[in-house]
Amino acid sequence: MNALHELKEQFRPIISDLVNSDAAATDAMLAMIRPASDAKHGDFQANFAMPLGKKAGQPPREVAEAIVAKADLAKICQNVDIAGPGFINLKLDNDWIKQGLKQALADEKLAVTPVASPRNYIVDYSSPNVAKPMHVGHIRSTVIGDALTRILNFVGHQAKSDNHLGDWGTQFGMILYGYKHFRDQATFEVDTIGELSRLYRLVRKLIDYHGSKAKLPELKSALAELETQLVDLKQQQSTTEGKAAVKKIKKEISQVGKRVADAKEKLEKATTSISLVEGGELAAVANEHPEIGTAVLLETSKLHAGDTENKDLWTEFLPICKQDMQTIYDRLSVEFDMELGESYYNDMLGEIVDELEAKGYARESDGAMCVFLDDFETPMIVRKKDGAFLYSTTDLATIKYRMKNFDADACLYVVDHRQHEHFEKLFAVAKLWGYDEAELKHVSFGTVMGKDGKPFQTRSGDTVGLAGLLDEAEKRAGEIAKELNEGIPADQLAENARVVGIGSLKYADLSQNRSSDYTFDYEKMLALKGNTAAYLQYGYARVQGILRKVEIDPQPLRSQPVGFEFATHVERALAVQLLRFEEALSDVLIDYKPNLLCNYLFDLGQTFFKFYDQCSLKDTESETLLSSRVQLCDLTARTIKTGLSLLNIGVLDKM
Ligand code: ARG
Repeated sequence: MNALHELKEQFRPIISDLVNSDAAATDAMLAMIRPASDAKHGDFQANFAMPLGKKAGQPPREVAEAIVAKADLAKICQNVDIAGPGFINLKLDNDWIKQGLKQALADEKLAVTPVASPRNYIVDYSSPNVAKPMHVGHIRSTVIGDALTRILNFVGHQAKSDNHLGDWGTQFGMILYGYKHFRDQATFEVDTIGELSRLYRLVRKLIDYHGSKAKLPELKSALAELETQLVDLKQQQSTTEGKAAVKKIKKEISQVGKRVADAKEKLEKATTSISLVEGGELAAVANEHPEIGTAVLLETSKLHAGDTENKDLWTEFLPICKQDMQTIYDRLSVEFDMELGESYYNDMLGEIVDELEAKGYARESDGAMCVFLDDFETPMIVRKKDGAFLYSTTDLATIKYRMKNFDADACLYVVDHRQHEHFEKLFAVAKLWGYDEAELKHVSFGTVMGKDGKPFQTRSGDTVGLAGLLDEAEKRAGEIAKELNEGIPADQLAENARVVGIGSLKYADLSQNRSSDYTFDYEKMLALKGNTAAYLQYGYARVQGILRKVEIDPQPLRSQPVGFEFATHVERALAVQLLRFEEALSDVLIDYKPNLLCNYLFDLGQTFFKFYDQCSLKDTESETLLSSRVQLCDLTARTIKTGLSLLNIGVLDKM
């Protein structure tokens, strides 16, 4: 049930005729049918008469009139008005709405029609680097990927989730080195994962220290040079005349200014890495391991080459690391269809490179095997000089595997925006290689920021661990639940805290436009008012409370509904909003943006609370009006519940 879609289909042939059957132009025009911003004018508004009129050199109003005369809208719309220069206002027919509500009531899936052409999707998400503790950045990939997989499946696609674990990279070299040189055997035996994470962090610190020390002079001189440049430019600016010249120099100043800020940040980072070691207890250790960076790479390549000791340690560590991650996934209720990490593809990498070379896509350059691409300054390296394969090589193998074994029509990579260049290159190579039919899409997302406007970090500059965040969200949700209901039994309190705490954390992330950075803020995310999970969960619980009060079981009404009545505007508004669920889901899938579902649910919540304020269920004039309102309440609750479940967020009968 999707009114917008049906309206578009009614207009499609007429518009298509007007644009010489140009499909893209038709779609662009149809995209100009939108929900009306003011309900007074109707439910939807079509604005395509303006551009069409302009193109045809005809008054848009006449164009609008001609289109409306041809369209068969009587079944869907009760009113079609042409306003102003040629806006077409469409008001849905009440009987059509009521029919739609009945269908939604009777259907598990709320009358969401399955997509006409289902596709096979692989959704690659979460994909943390094993051996590092999961941190705040992983929550974004995990919850966005999980939501997209659920939504795709719900609307009738076949989506499989794949956790492409980083289980084969340098981070393993780090813990191998750490294990061999710094392990505390007693701790390792009782708290293996704790000890492995400590070793990882220690080695990371030492590598950063030596790396930063080596780079420091270069960073300093780079900054100094840029600063001099900036001073020069500013001086030049004071004597520059002429609009164009002034504009040009301003632009240069701003560009160099940005590079100065960048260079400062790099220098600051390096100084921090140094200060974390120098003068502290780690200083002596650092001095004893001056070549740690190279040594770690060596451990990694020994592992890749099949060195028995390293391979055995890897085999011992991997399940332990995975188990630790699993506790986080369990708390988030996230499950994967597959967990094929990087190591899974190891044996295929040689063949991939050979194939690329044989087909003439890859060639040697400075000893490395590279794929050169027209639109990129640097090539994609698929095998290094020393024979090592790279992250990119594995990703190419993964594409081949997914196409062959799953006949994938689309692969979504839910990964941090900083990897955009990697994916642009990867997709370009895949296309060259012949995988040009499938949709390969980097579903990228921004950084999680702290309230101070900087990337969310602990005081010592480490990324914030995920387990601690989940604990804190649950703790705070528990405190709120206690305030709301005194004397709530302990088990119910724990359940409330979990459902609201974890749900709010997920929702805070999902409700943001994924491309933007977002600010992590417990108070905001747990607020009962606003676009939060707690607000929607509260709406759901309210309905359950109402149903308990009026003592009506909504279940029989689902298959045998009593006719709907719209005694007030707000009942009709709620009905229209309820019927827009499918539209919201299809909007999400245009550019893989779960926040559009959140926006929809928030609008639904707001309309529901208006209805709740204005429409009594206690003293209705008639039994049928009471039933109609009960049905609206029931459908609202089910839409919230289903919508939240697609975001993998739960609801509660009482809050
Ligand atoms: N393990 C990578 C990281 O943590 C992300 C992997 C994303 N998926 C992929 N197929 N490249 O940065």
